[in-house]
Amino acid sequence: MEERLYGDHTMADIDLAAVERRALDELAAACDAAAAAAWRARYLGKKGEVTQLLRGLGVLPADRRKQAGQTANRLRALLQEAFDRRRALLEASSPAPSAAIDVTLPARPHRQGHLHPITLTLREIERAFRDMGFAVVEGPQVEWDEYNFERLRIPADHPARDMWDTLWIDYERDGRYPMLLRTHTSPMQIRYIERHRPPIRVIVPGTCYRYEATDATHEWMLTQVEGLVIDEGISFAHLKGTLEAFVHRLFGPDVEARFRCDYFPFVEPGAEVAIRWRDGRWIELLGAGMVHPEILAATGYDPARYTGFAFGIGVERTAMLRYGIDDIRYFYDNALGFLEQF
Ligand code: DAH
Repeated sequence: MEERLYGDHTMADIDLAAVERRALDELAAACDAAAAAAWRARYLGKKGEVTQLLRGLGVLPADRRKQAGQTANRLRALLQEAFDRRRALLEASSPAPSAAIDVTLPARPHRQGHLHPITLTLREIERAFRDMGFAVVEGPQVEWDEYNFERLRIPADHPARDMWDTLWIDYERDGRYPMLLRTHTSPMQIRYIERHRPPIRVIVPGTCYRYEATDATHEWMLTQVEGLVIDEGISFAHLKGTLEAFVHRLFGPDVEARFRCDYFPFVEPGAEVAIRWRDGRWIELLGAGMVHPEILAATGYDPARYTGFAFGIGVERTAMLRYGIDDIRYFYDNALGFLEQF
């Protein structure tokens, strides 16, 4: 009698204990639901190894069939149980693959930033002056005392230096400390006239630094836009017309600009420009004046022929007025709640 069960094996050849060991090893290696399901098909499915084995029992003589049947059925129950446990474990330890890759889930939006309110304001200021024919140039933030003070007619020990509390660079030369973080953008007036001939019409945006305690209207880091115009026949009327046009462009045609005398060592006469704000207050926006003839002469210009005007605009101040911000310190706090409002 042939004892063929499946393949080339006879029932006598089948070592059920070995099948059990192999099946359990493979099951332990099945590390996700798909691998476990494949294992189940391999052993317990319709064409699975154990199922085939049970089916083949019919060919055995009756006396051996009963005992072999019991052994094989026990194996099947044992593997089924092992499978159930394995599946429960896999389900508990990892989400079903359909949940892990849900192709219908909308993508997480990219958080997109935008320009800082000071950059936005700076660009508006630049646009206003470009439209009036000004070029935009930049200068160094680490400056020499010579440009930041001396050649702007602010010699060492002059009381006017108190207007610009200074952060000095720790660099000694001949017993002096000649290098600093620029306290204003005015040194670019000197740098520019040194290298160019009239007509000159430039603005200089940039960051400046002051050794100051901060409060609602003062920061140790600030942004200015310097302006410089030099040509034959430039008068205070040009200064006034240019700066009035600027105020109207930025704040609206109905906003009044007030010009009053002020002192800056590098201009004569000097002025401060304030605008009348909604609540009726006058708020200072910038300093300005006619370029001092000594500065022109010192750089080789004939002051009888050439005249000019200069101005320095506080950009944080301008942004505060435009956006209605009452504390300058918000700008560099990096608080998203503030920045996201622009
Ligand atoms: N540099 C001055 C400051 O920081 C502002 C200023 C005043 C600039 C008058 C000018 C000017 O060009 O003419 O306070």
